[in-house]
Amino acid sequence: MQPIPLMNSKAQYAPLVDELKERFAAVLDSGRFIFGPEVEAFEHEAAAFLGVPHAIGVANGTDALVLALEALGIGRGDEVICPAFTFYATAEAIVRAGATPVFADVDPQTLNLDPEDVASRVTPRTKALMPVHLFGRVAPLAELSELGLPIVEDAAQAFGAEGVAQTGACSTFSFFPSKNLFALGDGGLVTCLDDEVAKRVRMLRFHGSHDKKTFELVGTNSRLDAVQAAMLRVFLPYLTRWNEQRREAAARYAELGLGEVVELPLDEPGHVYHVYAVRTSRREEIAAALTQEGIASGSYYTTPLHLQPALSYLGVAEGSLPETERAAAENLAVPMWAGIELEQQERVVEAIRAAVGVPA
Ligand SMILES: Cc1ncc(COP(=O)(O)O)c(C=O)c1O
Repeated sequence: MQPIPLMNSKAQYAPLVDELKERFAAVLDSGRFIFGPEVEAFEHEAAAFLGVPHAIGVANGTDALVLALEALGIGRGDEVICPAFTFYATAEAIVRAGATPVFADVDPQTLNLDPEDVASRVTPRTKALMPVHLFGRVAPLAELSELGLPIVEDAAQAFGAEGVAQTGACSTFSFFPSKNLFALGDGGLVTCLDDEVAKRVRMLRFHGSHDKKTFELVGTNSRLDAVQAAMLRVFLPYLTRWNEQRREAAARYAELGLGEVVELPLDEPGHVYHVYAVRTSRREEIAAALTQEGIASGSYYTTPLHLQPALSYLGVAEGSLPETERAAAENLAVPMWAGIELEQQERVVEAIRAAVGVPA
């Protein structure tokens, strides 16, 4: 029996290996590994794809968040509201920028920030909101922007999702190899709507300088490699199709009756299903049954950020973010990638139905 992984970037890049090798060879021939034409071309292509004026390649999605906050002048004494049901880097970046994360609860239907709960946590020190487009679903940006605060969209999981990067002063992306748009190593991107903010991100990613002679800001070294930019340029034209395939796979899970035994993610137009996470109170038995059948599954953010040791100094008690804690206890991600086959999805659904005693 063939094992079924949770994600499978290799299945996506396998048909493109010859082209990837050619583009890698071209970078080798050029001898330009830092900045240069590949990085510039990718930044232009990514900006055009997203419909934004500025896109700046950086080393990873975590740095992208820190640089965006710093470029917006957010730091010591400032509060930034974000979810606690997200990858640690979201809040870590706020702390690295010198500010304080303030956690708001999530909407149980979408697992994204609940705008009402966000509104209740705004104080005079709140300087930005950092919604996460969790699992590829766009956060409620229209409602959040009514609060009149700058927004940094953590879009690490949502390249190509409808409406991403259009609202936030900055939006950030990760090209970690499991993401919808991925590199063959680390990579990240910051997009900005404002020219001055974009200029600051460009300087901050390169030691606060634009010419390596005069250093106007204290920045860092956070660059997207030319090799990764070249690989990303191969993948970007396929992304729309890949995201459609993910949506098709999500629809197939519903058609196969998975929703009769677990709670499916609410389908919304533009959701790009970076992760396909169902909800169930029987997670452990289902995961064990899947493992028995050679099928991988995963549970995300099982210790939400307010309960992580490094952030205990914030003093957010257990029980204070009830929907976050319920999502942490109940989410179960099942296999999803662009090109997952019908038979593989059938095996997943059969195994889950059998585990809960409702065979097809
Ligand atoms: C929501 C979220 N934010 C930030 C990051 C950080 O990205 P990276 O791993 O590229 O630093 C990730 C991904 O890993 C993520 O999922």
